Amino acid sequence: MLIPLWPLQKRLSMDVILTVCTTCNSAASNPAANEGRSGGSRLAEALEQQAAGRPGAPRIVRHECLWACAHSCAILIRSKGRTGYLAGRFEPSGTAAAAILDWTTAYGESPDGQVPYAKWPEGMKGHFIARIPVFEEET
Ligand code: FES
Repeated sequence: MLIPLWPLQKRLSMDVILTVCTTCNSAASNPAANEGRSGGSRLAEALEQQAAGRPGAPRIVRHECLWACAHSCAILIRSKGRTGYLAGRFEPSGTAAAAILDWTTAYGESPDGQVPYAKWPEGMKGHFIARIPVFEEET
């Protein structure tokens, strides 16, 4: 007998939080490239648009400055009981948003936050800055 996995996949991915720095690549430093808005807010907007209605999409949270300013645009991927990841150097584009969501979906499907390298979209390679261990009380 086959057991549908979709409900389990949905449960695993629902608790993934994707925090997006909204102040990265500030408009003041490059207003022409950013259409008067920060790169981070444009990346957040692209992520929110693509995540809407997408199965396995993380909850997207906007946050000012993740203290990874030298690596803008920066994001933080985390979930209770899973290793977390700080990543950056993303362009505020739909292409970057798609890569982030593809990787985050694979992260949500994993039991521990370890995504096999073979599943990494090209747009995520070379963007990770730090791996954040699981808090002991979360295990
Ligand atoms: S402004 Fe984005 S990490 Fe500091």
